[in-house]
Amino acid sequence: MPISLSGRSFLKLLDYTPEEIKYLLNLASEFKRMKMAGEEHKYLTNKQVVLLFEKTSTRTRCAFEVAARDLGMGVTFLDSGSSQMGKKESLADTAKVLGRMYDGIEYRGYKQSVVEDLAKYSGVPVWNGLTDDFHPTQMLADILTVQEEFGDVRNRKLTFFGDARNNVANSLMVVCAKLGMTFCACGPKELMPNKDLVETCKKIAKETGGKIELTQDIKEGAKNCDVVYTDIWLSMGEDASLWDKRIKMLKKYQVNGKLMKLAKPTAIFLHCLPSFHDRETTIGEEIYQKYKLDAMEVNDEVFLGPQARQFDEAENRMHTIKAVMYATLK
Ligand code: CP
Ligand code: NVA
Repeated sequence: MPISLSGRSFLKLLDYTPEEIKYLLNLASEFKRMKMAGEEHKYLTNKQVVLLFEKTSTRTRCAFEVAARDLGMGVTFLDSGSSQMGKKESLADTAKVLGRMYDGIEYRGYKQSVVEDLAKYSGVPVWNGLTDDFHPTQMLADILTVQEEFGDVRNRKLTFFGDARNNVANSLMVVCAKLGMTFCACGPKELMPNKDLVETCKKIAKETGGKIELTQDIKEGAKNCDVVYTDIWLSMGEDASLWDKRIKMLKKYQVNGKLMKLAKPTAIFLHCLPSFHDRETTIGEEIYQKYKLDAMEVNDEVFLGPQARQFDEAENRMHTIKAVMYATLK
């Protein structure tokens, strides 16, 4: 049966079958080809979308805006500082209003239940632009980047080093399980993914030929690894007072040249970004002054090195988000 995602929300990858995920990846590749060739693809000129951001963003917001305009749609951006959302109006009421005016809603914020409720009350497709639990649009860009490097992603091993229970790590575990890859969470035992989610992913992996591994050992994590992945040690919404504890716990999981050498020589490096790989940010400089660390989750040896693919990955956010909006709105 041909795949149709028309009218669906994109809230987490657990809701999508492997075939549906592959369909979105193929669509994204086609949109990328069209963009590169300069072929116009204004397929949704009569549609309007709204982007709700309760947390800050560069890539996700820009990807949604550019993708929507490339498809010919109108776009409205709202953050919590410039709308009634959350303060004077509940999310349910906001959703009902927006659903009357817009064809689709993007939401970035805190609880996963909020994005699920937006979908429930708005009656239009809702796309999760990051919550505390998941970051599903990021996953499509990540896998597209892996696919562009290696072709078939099945049996490839992706290891996430660091805070292995954050939104990005959770989503990577799900997408790897769905696509028959090996996902390895490598970090301290206090920051391992939630047991229930691990069990769910193991069940999925059993069906697809994938594997889920958890380890505290860097050598084990890096062994036979095709994709070395990391993310910041303190996510948006977490209290800054946690830096001290996190740095102590995660210092040894920094992705540097020594760690990269433990992975396959053909391995690539990915990072969802933004990254603290130098002292060129206010937080990066503060951390340096306090802890004398000139890089956190990854250093410049890797970030600027030949195996780094994080900017291809960032570009792919736009092509994949375009695929999600098009597939669900057409
Ligand atoms: N990777 C990502 O979601 O980046 P932004 O926070 O800049 O959107
Ligand atoms: N884990 C990070 C991802 C940012 C794209 C955060 O939530 O801040």
